[in-house]
Amino acid sequence: MNGKYEHMVDLSDFTPERWNKVVDLAIDIYHHPDIYAGACKNKILATLFYEPSTRTQMSFQTAMLRLGGSIIGFDNPQNSSVNKGENLTDTIRIVSGYADILAMRHPLEGAAKAAAMYADCPVINAGDGGHLHPTQTLTDLVTMKCEIGRLDNLVIGLCGDLLNGRTVHSLVKAMVAYPNNRFVLISTPELAMPSYIKDILDANNCPYTEVYSLEEAIPELDVLYMTRIQQERFASEEEYLSQKDVYVLDKAKIFKAKPTLKVMHPLPRIDEIEMDVDNDERAIYFKQAKYGVFARMALILTLLHSEPTYTLVKGQDTGYKCTNPRCISNQEHYLTHYNVVEGDIQVCEYCDHHQLI
Ligand code: NCD
Repeated sequence: MNGKYEHMVDLSDFTPERWNKVVDLAIDIYHHPDIYAGACKNKILATLFYEPSTRTQMSFQTAMLRLGGSIIGFDNPQNSSVNKGENLTDTIRIVSGYADILAMRHPLEGAAKAAAMYADCPVINAGDGGHLHPTQTLTDLVTMKCEIGRLDNLVIGLCGDLLNGRTVHSLVKAMVAYPNNRFVLISTPELAMPSYIKDILDANNCPYTEVYSLEEAIPELDVLYMTRIQQERFASEEEYLSQKDVYVLDKAKIFKAKPTLKVMHPLPRIDEIEMDVDNDERAIYFKQAKYGVFARMALILTLLHSEPTYTLVKGQDTGYKCTNPRCISNQEHYLTHYNVVEGDIQVCEYCDHHQLI
């Protein structure tokens, strides 16, 4: 394993001071883009997208091009040697020999951690299954800082697919670091926030309530973070259809909100926000997508110029196999089963899945 580089697998691997610096750098780039226009001259970013994406992939590519660098990569692994059966880490070893930094999206949880273990350059997690999406969170932090002016003292409603939505998992992990934030988790019982994320809220004394009704929750919110029901992560069409359209933000609901509410969404929107909400000045999701370019410019610059500040692998080889079928370690069988042992629980190093010993 190569310890030469700093990666962005999980925002919480960085200290809050450090990720706040990235947010501040992103805001500086936003105000003074010309200063940074040549900052990555002769550097190459590889975008390896094993799962579809519009915003994340294109904002990474735009970020590198705006920094004066170049881009390579694929957005359909079927057009690469993956189609011939090449394993993840061989692909990563090869591409990290060509590029200076990688951004990878993968459908399996923990894939970014596995990639970082084998890469010969920094790796950025651009979404690993339903697990984490740290660069969306950096985007969200930049958006809130610019549009609200603060990251603390907020009542934040997260609505929709809280079980499978990786963006909300990463967002909670970051927002617990700021004082006096409170969460309202709005979902059906089937798509409730995973307990490992609720444990993080508890461990940080961050208050939260779990509710069903968006209509009842909306009046007290400072931020409403809508999410799509993640169709691709459901076992059957019936299960998906039973959850689809439970939450739809429309003009009648937003009428009940504070005038200062900010409606965010990582996008793509399917039908959880009606299009006539777009013209309400409280709807900031299109601005949010633009801030993503500056957040990724700041992150690329930071990782290209830093020494490792944290240990990538915190667990040990305990021999226990992760029981999460969506974990990368159950697909790429050569990976060592690293676990962090917490009392009688072991936590998978790749996907954070908790299991009793
Ligand atoms: C999200 C993602 O891919 O996790 N989109 C994004 O990155 N902007 C949200 C989603 O797919 O629903």
